[in-house]
Amino acid sequence: MIHCPAVRKKSIQFHYDLTTFFYRLLWGEHIHHGLWEKNESPKDAQVRLTREVARLACIESGESVLDVGCGMGGSSLYLARHHRCQVTGVTISGVQRRWASWSAWRRGLGRQTTFVRADAEQMEWEPEQFDVIWSIECTEHLFDKAAFFRRAAEWLRPGGRMAICAWLEGTTDSSRARQLVMDVCEGFFCPSLGSMSDYRHWMSDAGLEVQDVLDWTDEVARTWEICQSRACRPGLRRLAYWIDRETGRFLDRFATIHRAYTERAMQYGCLVARKPP
Ligand SMILES: C[S@@+](CC[C@H](N)C(=O)[O-])C[C@H]1O[C@@H](n2cnc3c(N)ncnc32)[C@H](O)[C@@H]1O
Repeated sequence: MIHCPAVRKKSIQFHYDLTTFFYRLLWGEHIHHGLWEKNESPKDAQVRLTREVARLACIESGESVLDVGCGMGGSSLYLARHHRCQVTGVTISGVQRRWASWSAWRRGLGRQTTFVRADAEQMEWEPEQFDVIWSIECTEHLFDKAAFFRRAAEWLRPGGRMAICAWLEGTTDSSRARQLVMDVCEGFFCPSLGSMSDYRHWMSDAGLEVQDVLDWTDEVARTWEICQSRACRPGLRRLAYWIDRETGRFLDRFATIHRAYTERAMQYGCLVARKPP
């Protein structure tokens, strides 16, 4: 696992409070990679990733889902609408919580969804409260990932599933690869990135049976070609640096993450595990 000690929890919260509006403008409601099969639009590719994770996690109608790091509610609203799930979304950002609640209300999904502002590393739930724990691109931001998996496994009912998508440390082991990962961690506020095998171990050490381990690096990498070209819009970079140095650096690191995927310094993974009945 690669650590980046410079990242602070306060900065993560500040980043999402400040930039949620920009994510919406630049990328869309889902703050995660797209999963490309052919020439889908970015929006369709984002929904495809969500749909694919839902399929792998065998989401059933009416199940209760905890969406950890729910962003603007992209996945939560998808699961509520398409699978009639009862979803609790958690985000560290107060802006995102309000945004997600408002979106749910606007679409008539207010009764099926609840959004709370909480730190996923501190929150408490009843044992066996959820059918599914779902987390797309949030565990990168957690400081003690192993502890999170142990606690989250307790919140799952027997037979429940955990579905995770995450940015990962890659398979290339060189000082250049490590530097690329460090630069990504610093730019995108990740205190560490685990490898695919770290995630497998955290899940199985938490008592879960790992069912699917998928490397989606090639299918998601186009995300950063598109984001880089969108970030070149006139004035955007200047605005980002005007806000603060960290927000400016965030835009500049779009090229770094693309390089990290291309050189296999990073991977993108989807893992699904089941709690034994
Ligand atoms: C890349 S976004 C992904 C959002 C969402 N899962 C999606 O796919 O649209 C990361 C999310 O993790 C949340 N997050 C980061 N650290 C967190 C923490 N300690 N507790 C709860 N949420 C956190 C952020 O607020 C943000 O919503």
